[in-house]
Amino acid sequence: MNKQLVGVLGASGYAGRELCALINRHPGLKLAFATANDQKGTTIMAGGREVSFIGTDEAPLGDVALVFSALPHGTSGAWAERAVEAGARAVDLSADLRPGNGREGIPYGLTELMRGVVQGAELVSNPGCYPTAILLALAPLFAQGLVAPDAQIVVNAASGVTGAGNSPKRELLFGEVAEDYRAYGVGNTHRHLAEMRALALAMGSGNDLLFTPHLLPVARGILASITVTLAAPLPDPLALWRAAYGSEPFIEIASGPPSLREVSHRNVVRLWATEMAGTQRPTLMIFSAIDNLVKGAAGQAVQNANLMLGLEETMGLPT
Ligand SMILES: NC(=O)c1ccc[n+]([C@@H]2O[C@H](COP(=O)([O-])OP(=O)(O)OC[C@H]3O[C@@H](n4cnc5c(N)ncnc54)[C@H](OP(=O)(O)O)[C@@H]3O)[C@@H](O)[C@H]2O)c1
Repeated sequence: MNKQLVGVLGASGYAGRELCALINRHPGLKLAFATANDQKGTTIMAGGREVSFIGTDEAPLGDVALVFSALPHGTSGAWAERAVEAGARAVDLSADLRPGNGREGIPYGLTELMRGVVQGAELVSNPGCYPTAILLALAPLFAQGLVAPDAQIVVNAASGVTGAGNSPKRELLFGEVAEDYRAYGVGNTHRHLAEMRALALAMGSGNDLLFTPHLLPVARGILASITVTLAAPLPDPLALWRAAYGSEPFIEIASGPPSLREVSHRNVVRLWATEMAGTQRPTLMIFSAIDNLVKGAAGQAVQNANLMLGLEETMGLPT
């Protein structure tokens, strides 16, 4: 098969390295360039091959079919748009072009729910890691109008430390995170809320979202625990997710609460739900687990790129 050329901007970061590894093992894609900032000129192993980083300014954007932009928030979106101007397609992994962040109307790559707009698109905004886990868990409830209109949706989610990127920060030193567990972005202040609110609204839910992220002392993975008051009891909670996602290759309905080990290095979302006992109103607890660097970033970006380039959606993705 003739491989299509792709490039990665921000390839020395956590999401960018994961992209390089996936591309180097992908049967339909070939890595033409990989860029870095401080790490320009260094070489790493990714996906069983050596990858040498050039400066982002030196990237031949117009020579490839598609550019992945995994640069920091505030820089990444403009580079993705520059790639499109140069004649490539682009997937932006940052929040810059996502709904709720001031730039509406750009195809949002929550692939399972947005295939129609992603297929053949020139530019796609890849979802945040937390929104991927949380929106795919809630979407079937929104679609059926099952959330009580006055319900607050309470989301507690924990992420591994790669979620914060690999630029040095004191609070992310091993000595600070190891054997500890704490919340951050408290008081509904996390950047991903705007994106989740915009999508929930588009799916018909104006319910309050109360989102508290936590930092977990593991390298990768997100587990979200979501509590929702329902409009009516749901006798078989899992039937709803099975009906919505039954044939999806990257969504798994578990038989008990999912764990991070079950999703690590895989492009999957693993879901489970149960009714809460002893409540005055019907209340559901949903659990959603992903690998933040795969389904929450690079894997979903490749899933979208496959559709944009006319390849099979599952090609080159670990399940
Ligand atoms: N980490 C995750 O779980 C995750 C999940 C979903 C989405 N994302 C998004 O993906 C993007 C990358 O995240 P990350 O976690 O991989 O970040 P990261 O580890 O901090 O990597 C950032 C990348 O951008 C480069 N860079 C930094 N400042 C730059 C500048 N001023 N100009 C050009 N390049 C610059 C870095 O190069 P040097 O290291 O060589 O300086 C590195 O390659 C972000 O927008 C993030 O929001 C991340």
